[in-house]
Amino acid sequence: MAPSTPTATLHRHHSNFPTIRSTVSCLFLSLLFIYILYYSTVPFEPVPIIKTTINDCQVDPNHRLQTNTSNTALKHIAFGIAASASLWRTRKEYLKLWWRRGETRGAVWLDRQVRTAPDENLPDIHISKGTSKFQYVNPNGDRSAIRISRVVSETLRLGMEDIRWFVMGDDDTVFIVENLVRVLSKYDHNEFYYIGTTSESHFQNMLFSYGMAFGGGGFAISYPLAVELEKMQDRCLRRYPGYYGSDDRMHACMSELNVPLTKEPGFHQYDVHGNLLGLLAAHPVTPLVSLHHLDVVDPIFPGMSRAQGVKHLLESAKYDSASIIQQSICYDKKRKWSILVSWGFAIQIVRGILSPRELETPTRTFLNWHKRLDYTAYSFNTRPVARNPCQKPFVYYMNSTKFDKGRGKIIGIYTLHKERYPYCKWDMELPATIDRIVVLKKEDSNRWDKAPRKDCCRVLPANNKAVLYLWVGNCQTNEVIEL
Ligand SMILES: *[C@@H]1O[C@H](CO)[C@@H](O)[C@H](O)[C@H]1NC(C)=O
Ligand SMILES: *[C@@H]1O[C@H](CO)[C@@H](O)[C@H](O)[C@H]1NC(C)=O
Repeated sequence: MAPSTPTATLHRHHSNFPTIRSTVSCLFLSLLFIYILYYSTVPFEPVPIIKTTINDCQVDPNHRLQTNTSNTALKHIAFGIAASASLWRTRKEYLKLWWRRGETRGAVWLDRQVRTAPDENLPDIHISKGTSKFQYVNPNGDRSAIRISRVVSETLRLGMEDIRWFVMGDDDTVFIVENLVRVLSKYDHNEFYYIGTTSESHFQNMLFSYGMAFGGGGFAISYPLAVELEKMQDRCLRRYPGYYGSDDRMHACMSELNVPLTKEPGFHQYDVHGNLLGLLAAHPVTPLVSLHHLDVVDPIFPGMSRAQGVKHLLESAKYDSASIIQQSICYDKKRKWSILVSWGFAIQIVRGILSPRELETPTRTFLNWHKRLDYTAYSFNTRPVARNPCQKPFVYYMNSTKFDKGRGKIIGIYTLHKERYPYCKWDMELPATIDRIVVLKKEDSNRWDKAPRKDCCRVLPANNKAVLYLWVGNCQTNEVIEL
């Protein structure tokens, strides 16, 4: 949990929601009203009343034609980034990795003025309005949660034109913007949408909600919903002074607006510690939209700083953002190895044949937010890194990604990360004889317009014993992952 940006953590909340009494009296008045209405009209013309009601409820078939149907693009998104002056110096480095001045739109919201060089690739900086008129009584959290939960409304009030979506993120959230656009394009921005995802931690989801978008992973609110939210948010916030963070407050207001969470599993809160390899290498078959809590986990590429690691991953994304970290599975039939590709990021070779069903389950290289290495702790299935010491994976991290004009393919070079391996008495070729893996792939920018499917992977013939050549791409008819 970023101390500056209290999104969710593990504390219970108390609300001072209007009492039962006022609800009952409201109900009584409504019933009385319906009663009067009914008996004042029924004696004269009972049938048309019912008919009119039914007609009013029917969907206007032309409704969709009236909406703006041009494709959603990056320029239609207004980002609202929650930041704090105290951590700005380090956190802005994450923002610089994905922000594209002149292309991305929106603002960073800070609690007080900071210094930045005018040529830095950063969003416009705004100072949030004071929140002293709001009560905050949670003993564990920080009252900046109120300020942060108002970022969407404050961004709306900037009055930017031609905006379809407001996307909220923390200062340590990294967006893969092309994929954010791909995901949001699936939805009609003229409707009310609250899009994001829950935490990886089952415990966090129990304490907060399986229906809440965790703020650090980022979430999106459609324009008309942001308009409705802005009108009621300050009243709404006053009803939940005991809540912990900004995202549980947002969720409470969404509930008052009757809007449920639309889950998109490409947003990532990453409430974990340790090594993200297991999670990233078994990403769900959906575009990678965001990464978060990068200060808490190990650098995603060993030997690099955290920011460098993300920058390195984004290098691959430049060539095929839609496919970044997508998983493919194949086997080296001769040598009896299982090969797990996470495109643009890492490749793992495991001795022996593991089924695709097992390989696609994340390995527990990471620790739960509540620091236990335990299969019950997550809101999805996991598996141990190796069930047998011989099956500890040999990990090859992406060294470079380039486009080869001659072949019309993206060439990725992956090099072995040298580690200690436990003693293994299997009489089987050691993957470490391979020190480099070369992966060929075509760009596939339209893959998410189709039904989700993983790419196939094939081992290509090679003369050099120290190099493994792989092809990754759309599966052919009858192409199955089998031995
Ligand atoms: C529809 O969207 C396009 C592209 O953003 C914009 O130029 C146009 O003005 C919009 N039209 C309407 C009717 O809102
Ligand atoms: C890529 O490999 C070369 C040669 O082994 C090495 O010098 C370089 O540091 C590697 N770069 C990265 C980013 O891993």
